[in-house]
Amino acid sequence: MPEPILQVENLYVEFKIDEGIVRAVNGISFDLRAGETLGIVGESGSGKTVLNLAMLGLIPQPPGKITSGSARYRDEELLKMNDKRLSQIRGHRIAMIFQDPMTALNPFLAVEEQLTEVTRLHLGHTHDEAIKHAITMLDKVGIPSAEKRIFDYPHQFSGGMRQRVMIAMALSCNPDILIADEPTTSLDVTIQSQILDLMKELQKTEGTSIILITHDLGVVAKACHRVLVMYAGKIVERADADSLFANPRHPYTRGLLESVPRWDSERGDSLQAIPGQPPHLVDLPTGCSFYERCTYRQDSCRESVPNLVDRPDDGQFACFVNIDQVKPKELV
Ligand SMILES: Nc1ncnc2c1ncn2[C@@H]1O[C@H](COP(=O)(O)OP(=O)(O)O)[C@@H](O)[C@H]1O
Ligand SMILES: [Mg+2]
Repeated sequence: MPEPILQVENLYVEFKIDEGIVRAVNGISFDLRAGETLGIVGESGSGKTVLNLAMLGLIPQPPGKITSGSARYRDEELLKMNDKRLSQIRGHRIAMIFQDPMTALNPFLAVEEQLTEVTRLHLGHTHDEAIKHAITMLDKVGIPSAEKRIFDYPHQFSGGMRQRVMIAMALSCNPDILIADEPTTSLDVTIQSQILDLMKELQKTEGTSIILITHDLGVVAKACHRVLVMYAGKIVERADADSLFANPRHPYTRGLLESVPRWDSERGDSLQAIPGQPPHLVDLPTGCSFYERCTYRQDSCRESVPNLVDRPDDGQFACFVNIDQVKPKELV
């Protein structure tokens, strides 16, 4: 098994707001192995973005606060790193891409300036070297006539092409780790599929480890080796992607799987969500945080929080109930 290159242990992140403390990340541990794609799935608000921003020192403090935990990149602790070292690692060793490329790209600067800035800063490229490298990167991510397009501004690219520019920028220093936060959410299905293929291809040639954050299990099925399922700031299930799809053990995972639209569906990509809402993270319920929406729930699930236990094949899940032995009930 490849060595982990990133190890997160027992991470807690909270935000202080007027109503109280938002417990956004509630004791998360995982590792990322060299060369793998690790999927993080969960509905909006489950803490996926906060978890990843926290590792990179990008949580606004205040209102945010990392109250405990550790995040080790190779043999360095990210959470205790000084700003100078952290900014060397960010963008160079660990790069991040976002759902909306416009948050990462400056609309007022030609792509050329943005791409060359990164490698001049981190790799010490001269102007000419940087331009040459940027064109190679744009070429690699499949932008036609890269040597001309490099002088265009972000708005002159289509959504899919902008996403490619952002990937080119993120990958231009050949990072060890790429964190892709919903990188295809705003794109149509065909482009989405092209971008995922592109990431896979780059992983194959460069050996990049990828954390792929998504609320879409279809994306996970296509792109990930292992998966973490998050709910209300916790991991509720983790496994190899194949095992997870074949045999979900947590009612939430099963619900997500049932809500994945079939590829041949007439409804296209319209997601049939699990009924109900995640709990308000300011006052989390005493027992299982999925209780309110769980069709397998027992009275006892209200009393204590289920810890992660081993799944029969690989991985872990956090539920007291054996969902194969309990009949789901209608919730009223
Ligand atoms: N700056 C902030 N101030 C207050 N609450 C925040 C802030 N950023 C995130 N949160 C809260 O943290 C929780 C997790 O958010 P997030 O990680 O963005 O979810 P996800 O990426 O899974 O959709 C949400 O309840 C969100 O409202
Ligand atoms: Mg998010």
